Amino acid sequence: MSAQQIGKPANRVDGFEKVTGQAKYAAEFSAPDLTYGVVVNSAIAKGTIKNIDISEAMALEGVLQVFTHQNRPGYTWRDKDYQDKDSPPGSPFKPLYSNKIQFSMQPIALVVAESFELARYAAMLVKVEYEQEPHDTNFEANLPKAYKPKKYKATPPPDPRGDAAAALASATAKVEAEYAHPSEHHNPMEMHASTAVYEDGKLTVYDKIQGVKNSQQYLMKAFGLAEDELRVISPYVGGAFGSGLRPQYQLFLAVLAARELKRSVRVVMTRQQMFSFGHRPKTNQKFAVAAASDGELQAIKQEVFAETSKFEDYSEDVVIWPGVLYNCANVELTHKLVGLDVYTPLDMRAPGGTTGIYALECAIDELAYEVGIDPLEFRIKNYSEKDQNKDKPFSSKELKECYRQGAEKFGWSKRKMEPRSMKEGHNLIGWGFAQGAWEATQKKAAAKAVLTPEGKLLVTSATADIGTGTYTVMSQIAAETLGLPLENVSFRLGDSSMPMAPLEGGSWTVSSVGSAVKLACEKVQETLLELAKKVDNSPLQNASIEDVIFSDGQILLSQNPTQSVSIKAALAQNGGESVEAEATQQPADKQQNYSPYAHSATFVEVKVDEDLGTVKVTRIVAAIAGGRIINPKTAKSQILGGAVWGIGVAMEEETMMDNNLGRFMNHDLDKYHVPVNADVHDIDVIFVDEQDDIVNPLGAKGLGEIGIVSVAPAIANAIFHATGKRVRELPITLDKLL
Ligand code: MOS
Repeated sequence: MSAQQIGKPANRVDGFEKVTGQAKYAAEFSAPDLTYGVVVNSAIAKGTIKNIDISEAMALEGVLQVFTHQNRPGYTWRDKDYQDKDSPPGSPFKPLYSNKIQFSMQPIALVVAESFELARYAAMLVKVEYEQEPHDTNFEANLPKAYKPKKYKATPPPDPRGDAAAALASATAKVEAEYAHPSEHHNPMEMHASTAVYEDGKLTVYDKIQGVKNSQQYLMKAFGLAEDELRVISPYVGGAFGSGLRPQYQLFLAVLAARELKRSVRVVMTRQQMFSFGHRPKTNQKFAVAAASDGELQAIKQEVFAETSKFEDYSEDVVIWPGVLYNCANVELTHKLVGLDVYTPLDMRAPGGTTGIYALECAIDELAYEVGIDPLEFRIKNYSEKDQNKDKPFSSKELKECYRQGAEKFGWSKRKMEPRSMKEGHNLIGWGFAQGAWEATQKKAAAKAVLTPEGKLLVTSATADIGTGTYTVMSQIAAETLGLPLENVSFRLGDSSMPMAPLEGGSWTVSSVGSAVKLACEKVQETLLELAKKVDNSPLQNASIEDVIFSDGQILLSQNPTQSVSIKAALAQNGGESVEAEATQQPADKQQNYSPYAHSATFVEVKVDEDLGTVKVTRIVAAIAGGRIINPKTAKSQILGGAVWGIGVAMEEETMMDNNLGRFMNHDLDKYHVPVNADVHDIDVIFVDEQDDIVNPLGAKGLGEIGIVSVAPAIANAIFHATGKRVRELPITLDKLL
């Protein structure tokens, strides 16, 4: 019998707290004498503030202060070039730094009052005179000014291989096409918020963030504070998707006000303000792909143009995918940036993958049609056995098994190749396919484990749970390592005083923090074994750690499991003290020789109303190779979430720029559309078996991003199959189909 926890579909350990409202989010923490801050945003996209008149607002009883660039304290922004852990190369935006306006809706003042309603009213009374300058927000118009950044935030474009131009010139089958992906904004349920609690000159800041250590460092630099002068706490996050990777302006403003007023201050963004910082960049991609008549890929040329701000060079991994997903001898990749007067783009779920794989997988589908080969067959023919960008083998790759199981579940073999050949009444039926990958990264991380004399285990690490299931899977990893029941284990996170963890992002939390949790618990194992040897007539007297297993509250000799000492008995030898261990885990050297990726194969059915052009995504089968699955239930939720968002990417999400005002005009959820229940039909998730002893000590690859990357192209390809029309501009709204 074993108390195995890894691989079990455990319910979320934080589920009860969440559904009963006991789980507290950043804006729900309070303090005696709490005050409320409301942000005033710039009405123009570029220029200077000539005059800002706060007198009318200040005259209201209960308004405590209106902070602007004119009265911000001199101690702020001494280190004006500080870059947080997710900063792209460049000069980060600094709230209230000067009278300069760099983007529309830039925060220019914070009104603080005794009540939220008063602060909001007073914010309307702040009068601003601007000196406007012409702005560049038109992406297409600025394409001729595209440039290669001095430094890429993400992977620089891989070196060219072979001779793509020559291969394209002599190819028998060729596709040249341009794909467009719009700007998109993060819309988690929880708005960005910070509650800065001021007590005896010290600050405790509750922040909505994907990394408390990053927020703490940012505040230390922005205000010249020492580490022990401020603590950042973020126990629950109501979705983030990358929007919480960088500290946002409400954090700076709340802390500024709390320090100056010596009062606690809460600042919450409105939904509209959620569109005033960071977004997935608008991206145009020119593809030229070629194949021989037998379907062998001969060339891939990808030329990317992506939006950034004028003050930071944001780039993401848009051009690495040909080298990861296809075996191809002649490849040429470029990635250029278009600097606009907008806020810097920001990582959004699978940054670069969602855009890059979308265009690549559509171009390959077009090429498969050009050659006349089934799109799935085409992928099998050009399957990559190694990562050609790095010239390294994959740590594991069970993508072919994803093809096989996904195709079988979907019924792909019944597909007719010809577009418009499958009909059901007035509905055109389309079946589309796409594949995807996402890097399985491990980062350095630390965790601490404390096992009390009563046998209760508390594990901590300064990571986050943005709804992904971190609390649950970390508890499972700890319980499994020490052979304890899940209910005896608690995992705590989101406190800057806890052991170091990287930003919660990049799909690396399980592999990084999970591996640290495992190591800390293994250190506890070692102490427990030493204690177990002190038990009278201990059968473990001569055992070393390799000789024993921890299971069901016992330390057992693996060769002779009847011989054991209970963990309780071992703990009793510790003089009433807890057993503690802290451990830092980092990637093993052997990883250097491999390229680690998770993979996906996505099969989609759409039904397109021939008269109305409406599209329903009636079925999605997502087959995933993600290494070892720690918790099939939370894992499935990750993939479902990615698939639903993929529907949004393909057909709904788009932030539109009004170039007259230089402002995203649909900055609210009534005009920025995301999928709702009526848009979501059958979604099947398959996890194929994948053993990986290299990727990290857990063999788990991370699932936060692999679920989204191949969904939009599979939908676009299905729409082509249904209608015979290639729409190369996302989102595919019905007006583009008619
Ligand atoms: Mo993710 S875009 O790394 O939160």
